[in-house]
Amino acid sequence: MYRTHTCGELRIEHVGQEVVLSGWIQGVRNLGGMTFLTLRDRYGLTQIVIDDNTPEELKKQVEELGREFVVKITGEVIERSSKNSKMPTGDIEIGAKELVVLNKSEIPPFTIEDETDGGDELRMKYRYMDLRRNPVRKNLELRHRMGQEIRKYLDGEMFMEIETPYLIKSTPEGARDFIVPSRMNQGEFYALPQSPQTFKQLLMVSGFDRYFQIVKCFRDEDLRADRQPEFTQIDCEMSFVDQDDVLNMFEGLANHLFKVIKGIEIKEKFPQMPYSEAMEKYGSDKPDIRFDMQFVNLTDIVKGNNFVVFDTAEYVGGICAQACGNYTRKQLDKLTDFVRKPQIGARGLVYVKCNEDGSFKSSADKFFSQEDLKVWAEKMNAKAGDLILVLAGEKAHTLNALSELRLEMGEQLGLKDKNKFAPLWVVDFPLLEWDEDNKRFHAMHHPFTSPKAEDIHLFETDPGKVRANAYDLVINGVEIGGGSIRIHDDKLQQDMFKHLGFSEEEAKEQFGFLMDAFKYGAPPHGGAAFGFDRWVSLFAGLDSIRDVIAFPKNNSGRDVMIDSPSAVDNKQLDELSLKLKK
Ligand code: AMO
Repeated sequence: MYRTHTCGELRIEHVGQEVVLSGWIQGVRNLGGMTFLTLRDRYGLTQIVIDDNTPEELKKQVEELGREFVVKITGEVIERSSKNSKMPTGDIEIGAKELVVLNKSEIPPFTIEDETDGGDELRMKYRYMDLRRNPVRKNLELRHRMGQEIRKYLDGEMFMEIETPYLIKSTPEGARDFIVPSRMNQGEFYALPQSPQTFKQLLMVSGFDRYFQIVKCFRDEDLRADRQPEFTQIDCEMSFVDQDDVLNMFEGLANHLFKVIKGIEIKEKFPQMPYSEAMEKYGSDKPDIRFDMQFVNLTDIVKGNNFVVFDTAEYVGGICAQACGNYTRKQLDKLTDFVRKPQIGARGLVYVKCNEDGSFKSSADKFFSQEDLKVWAEKMNAKAGDLILVLAGEKAHTLNALSELRLEMGEQLGLKDKNKFAPLWVVDFPLLEWDEDNKRFHAMHHPFTSPKAEDIHLFETDPGKVRANAYDLVINGVEIGGGSIRIHDDKLQQDMFKHLGFSEEEAKEQFGFLMDAFKYGAPPHGGAAFGFDRWVSLFAGLDSIRDVIAFPKNNSGRDVMIDSPSAVDNKQLDELSLKLKK
């Protein structure tokens, strides 16, 4: 028998019992006459004491022990003389009687403690040891619990979990596909799914009514803190629903998770904000509404003062940072550098300090009188002591830069409270998105998203204005999920492909199976998919989804532990009839 209890289990009531524990040696402390071992497993830590009562042979064994050795210890639970209230097992220790080394360990490359000395690269190379650390293990425990609760909720709502294939044909979710060569069909390739989108729609045609799957998706795109090349979606689809039905169902899921995982009861309905409003007020389709600081459009009131930057700008907008009127020259210069960073790309930053005496101090004083600045301040609802920050330029670009500046100010002002959650549905997304490089429209969500019936006439005159029955769930500025009511009519689907610039043959070649299916009784349907990794990392209060994935990839898409991707030998290439370009 390896153990009678786990390392997190023993309490004062176990005193006097003989127990067997197995685990890893977290640390050895030799205090002259006594030695303390800390034994660790997934469930906790238990102190083992070696003293005058310990058999001589065991004492010798202990001298040989090192960190991360795997051992089995038999002994008696005794009450500690100096208790440790920070440890759940801190009232007791084990008086060791017998020790078996189950396996030795080399000296680990970093300390297996909450605050480790291991850098990122090293921890990822030895991820199996990194996963022994509390904070990392806790993230995976949270992930597990959330997964269980999601299944519980969806099962309770009659959703069926159905697996869909990984070796498929390209799905158009907007990223590049990972492709897999087929040996049996030489010269042909599978694509790994960017999502199970078309399959879940086919399952609706099959009559399954409500489907879900916690499923891996694969996208070959540039990586960021919230993006992995393989990530997990909570993918769902429902039949005979309109947009409100879908939003209510998944608001229910979110509320369930808030309640059971975070202990938060959200009483109000989640607010809904049209995409156009999100862009005007926050410059983002995923606004962080934990704090206000909405944009104010100043374009109409700042022109005609010989300030070329404003006079030539398509858009001039500002935000009001409360109680920042005392920002120093250095702080303002830093903000200017921030908006000028290439990723943000603003040309410069105009500020107005609202002084306590009612006067204003601005970087554009040369062009604007105190009266002018007062008008700005009134429009922006700025009070004495506030700081107005203004950006100008091409509209879309400036809205985006102002959004970054708003988030930065939110950070500086401590407004991004990780324990506060502000969910939001962003709705009424545009159906199409203009691609300037290729001079054509793309589907903003995906080509199976239905247009709003009242906007269909705009296809002929102003396709960019057609709105979609599409929605995103945003929490604290993170896009947690998105979905849409789908097209279920083969004629409308064909039209949609036409608007997206597909020839009839191309559409048939890529999506013939779906349009065929729509000819055989497709019910009205819609759904959504949620980024599971993002949701877990949000609930864990983390900034990167890597920390909630057992074996993540780095920013170059590499797994440094297994050293992948890697070359394959020529025999494998031959079997696939592939030859590498020099
Ligand atoms: P979408 O493309 O919006 O929709 O994806 C849904 C959610 O998946 C998460 N996500 C990612 N998470 C980590 N790494 C990535 N590379 C990544 N890409 C996306 C986001 C996102 O909101 N089939 C549709 C859903 C539908 O219409 O039902 C889809 O995949 O949280």
